[in-house]
Amino acid sequence: MTNTHEDVVVTASSPGKIIIVGEHFVVHEAYAVAAAINKRVTVIASKDGTRKVRFVSQGRDYYFPGTLARRFFPAPSSVMNEIFERFGKCEEGMSIEIRSEIPRGSGLGSSAAVSVATAAAVTRIMGKKLSLEEISKIAMKGEAAIHGNPSGIDVETSLRGGVVLFSKSSGAKPIAFEKGIEILIAFSGKSRNTSALISSVALIRKKYPNTFAHLVESSSFLSLQAVDALCRGDLPYLGAIMNIAQPILDWIGVSNDKLDRMLEDARSGRVFGAKITGAGGGGSIIVLPRPGTAKEVIDRLEAESKYVFSTLIPQEGLKVEQ
Ligand code: MEV
Repeated sequence: MTNTHEDVVVTASSPGKIIIVGEHFVVHEAYAVAAAINKRVTVIASKDGTRKVRFVSQGRDYYFPGTLARRFFPAPSSVMNEIFERFGKCEEGMSIEIRSEIPRGSGLGSSAAVSVATAAAVTRIMGKKLSLEEISKIAMKGEAAIHGNPSGIDVETSLRGGVVLFSKSSGAKPIAFEKGIEILIAFSGKSRNTSALISSVALIRKKYPNTFAHLVESSSFLSLQAVDALCRGDLPYLGAIMNIAQPILDWIGVSNDKLDRMLEDARSGRVFGAKITGAGGGGSIIVLPRPGTAKEVIDRLEAESKYVFSTLIPQEGLKVEQ
């Protein structure tokens, strides 16, 4: 049987992420720990013979290259540019449909997940089978288009799934973790600008270099302790680490009133720990509930947030089907 253009379809999906401990300090060479979540981005690439690259998202079509495609999809557009630069243009044209379960600007790694899934789907439909390292390098172009100077932790977590210990110099190390750890996530509804937040933290570093250097060291220490707690399933200690990290994030200026109120709501329930996750300035918080209290904590969080959910840590990262 001969293949028509329509027969060639690749579906790639990858998860969003939470930072358990170490955000921002990871940009300054500290270790950080991140985990995949149960919300994913799916990219469906198909060869359609149009000789154009077409994005389909929420029922609207955008052609690439084109200002609308770049404006609405800076991450996948940058990933496509990188792929075409490396491997040449896809002469037949293709359609790329992006379906996301992760709200944009929620600090839950939507741009990394879009970048990873696009890099995987588009290279595979062009006949390239790339290693995780190569997909990571391409996906980082999409992440950089949104975040300016990302550490790479979001991309690595989306790619590998599970729990990842990451530093810029040593890269990503998958961590064995106790299964069944339930984490609650609440989005403040205010999208954050990671690039601006990274720059404002760099100013704090400039103003207080010694203090900042100690905080980078502490952040690495807490991250290694968190790995230990995750391996042993020591949730009270993991929660304590989250609670220690939060005031430090507050001091570097990445929390705000809304996030503080959400954290207060969470803590007035029975929880082991709570903190913001990701860049802050908006975005989301994570909460580690005590056994049997998740429902009660979710109810409290719903007073401040319209987007609250519970996740176990999925082992699966990038998944590609052809
Ligand atoms: C964003 O999820 C985490 C930050 O540390 C930025 C980064 O590491 O790329 C704020």
